[in-house]
Amino acid sequence: MPASRITLQQLLQTLVVLFAGLFFVTACAEKPAPQKSGDKTTDTAKKQYVIGFSQCTTTEPWRALFNRLLEAEAAKMPDVKLVVLDAQDRTEKQVADMESFITRKMDAILISPKEAPGLTEVVERATKAGIPVIVLDRDVNTKNYACWIGGDNLEIGREAGRYAVEALGGPGKAQGVIYEIWGGMASPPAQDRHNGFHEIVGKEKGIKVEGNQDGDWKQEKGYNIMETALKTLPKIDLVYAHNDPMAFGAYLAAKDAKREKDIKFVGIDAIPEEGCMWVKNGQLAATFVYPPPGVEGLHAALKILKGEKVPPRISLPTRRITSANVDEYLASLKK
Ligand code: FRU
Repeated sequence: MPASRITLQQLLQTLVVLFAGLFFVTACAEKPAPQKSGDKTTDTAKKQYVIGFSQCTTTEPWRALFNRLLEAEAAKMPDVKLVVLDAQDRTEKQVADMESFITRKMDAILISPKEAPGLTEVVERATKAGIPVIVLDRDVNTKNYACWIGGDNLEIGREAGRYAVEALGGPGKAQGVIYEIWGGMASPPAQDRHNGFHEIVGKEKGIKVEGNQDGDWKQEKGYNIMETALKTLPKIDLVYAHNDPMAFGAYLAAKDAKREKDIKFVGIDAIPEEGCMWVKNGQLAATFVYPPPGVEGLHAALKILKGEKVPPRISLPTRRITSANVDEYLASLKK
């Protein structure tokens, strides 16, 4: 047999080796790559959401509390970076702040607008840029945003109206002069607080409502408006101001005119260091809880970013606070 000729046995041996080799190569290729401990793959990497918050002002204590609660909540969330801008009570600055959030491509934006007409367009622009916008407290004149969260101002106005009717003698019998001090007239909370109140007191023939001045939510303006009102109106039985700082400003003006004992002062917000304290001191007769909506806003933004649905409008509850329940209410906040 020539040496170059391959026997059947040699051929079979070669084929067995070849198949074995092929099997080994295939088996190795299918095995997952061994994982090193502490190895971070893109699947497990956490995304950090950058969320912008445009606050209209921080000079008022209710706003400062709003920011504090929101920042404390964001600090508990490792997957959130919150960027807060303060518009310092100026619409133009708030528009510029929103523009900077759009340019910086925030993952979501929270905004508590100064007023509706001036902020509507930039909210729509952010939405058009694909950024979910959550509007907090004061609304804008469009529904082109993801969600609105705030207190039910129409209901708060009605509740204040019910209180005023009771304080002036009860339904059908109420008698007296009410002086109303408006919050910012271009903002929906002031409009709703006005409309809800008038819905109730408007049914009382014995009640007359005076006052049509914009106090822009500020204590000093409340003082000035009341100072003038006291000069022109010999009888005022109750002051209804659209927030506690203006109600307290009106109280101080009445005190300076030595008429504070003849008048009941009613405000809205009921934060511990303002409204509640003034009720405890007997300076305000009543205030209504207006919860700052930042924490709920942050939770809604995260839900949206994680693909969950949120309702288009979320209303937060209110409560009447008077000397009868202020201590119990303050204690409940500490729990
Ligand atoms: C603070 C404030 C509150 C009021 C709210 C209405 O800026 O004036 O006192 O309840 O805004 O938007």
